[in-house]
Amino acid sequence: MSEGNLAGRVAIVTGGAQGIGAACSRKLVSLGASVVIGDRNLDAGEALAAELGDRAVAAALDVTDEQSCVDAIAVATARFGRLDIAVNNAGLANVDRSRAGFLSFASWRSLMSVNLDGVFLSMKAEIPAMIAAGGGSIINVASVMGTVAVACGSAYVASKHGVVGLTKAAALDHAEDGIRVNAIGPGYVKTPMLATRTPEQLAEIDSRHPLGRIADPDEVAAVMAFLASPDSSFVTGAYYMVDGGYTIR
Ligand code: NAI
Repeated sequence: MSEGNLAGRVAIVTGGAQGIGAACSRKLVSLGASVVIGDRNLDAGEALAAELGDRAVAAALDVTDEQSCVDAIAVATARFGRLDIAVNNAGLANVDRSRAGFLSFASWRSLMSVNLDGVFLSMKAEIPAMIAAGGGSIINVASVMGTVAVACGSAYVASKHGVVGLTKAAALDHAEDGIRVNAIGPGYVKTPMLATRTPEQLAEIDSRHPLGRIADPDEVAAVMAFLASPDSSFVTGAYYMVDGGYTIR
């Protein structure tokens, strides 16, 4: 994708301060977009915004809070005048490894509230601003766990399957507004989310991907940028795997 491809476009990246979201924020700025880095970790968002310069600003954002989502979009429109692109990336890892029948409702809710409610509330705040801008592109971050399952990960798996379904439904509802809505399904990605895994666990995770390794965040950001750009103008309701072949066997 050529530099300047997103010139004049305004984006928000939720969970944009770290990991895949930070790689995406960097990529969108490098392609000419202005970016709101929305994250509940405001310090990390501000540090990244300072590194990226005038076309980046940090906003305090908790995607589980409806008003917080509205306020973050207000930052985009106040600072940059419009909203064209939204990357709904904020998410929590599966930490409670109980089997489904023994998972506490509190664990289930805390994960669903960020990974699925958070995408819904983000889109609800973003879509009116995109309609005002004459259309837009939304990229929701699911996972390979939106297609397959892993043992002892029922809340995470359900939340990511939910993101895929929500993406398709919203794509249907808002095609008439000129808003494209797509999801991506990354395999495992080298981010702080995997920080608690041992070297042995990481080697086993590598081996689940036919390409023999996990992804670099930049490899995911490249697909996000494609879906954000006019290069994907006829793509909506799609679920792009970025998984090194994880789901083909
Ligand atoms: P990460 O843990 O490195 O970064 C997540 C970011 O989201 C952090 O900056 C955090 O402060 C922010 N965040 C968390 N809860 C939030 C909330 N309620 N409101 C606003 N911001 C919040 O995670 P990573 O690995 O970059 O993951 C990003 C997305 O990619 C997640 O949706 C995750 O489920 C998905 N994913 C990650 C994979 C991986 O192997 N790392 C694989 C497949 C999907």
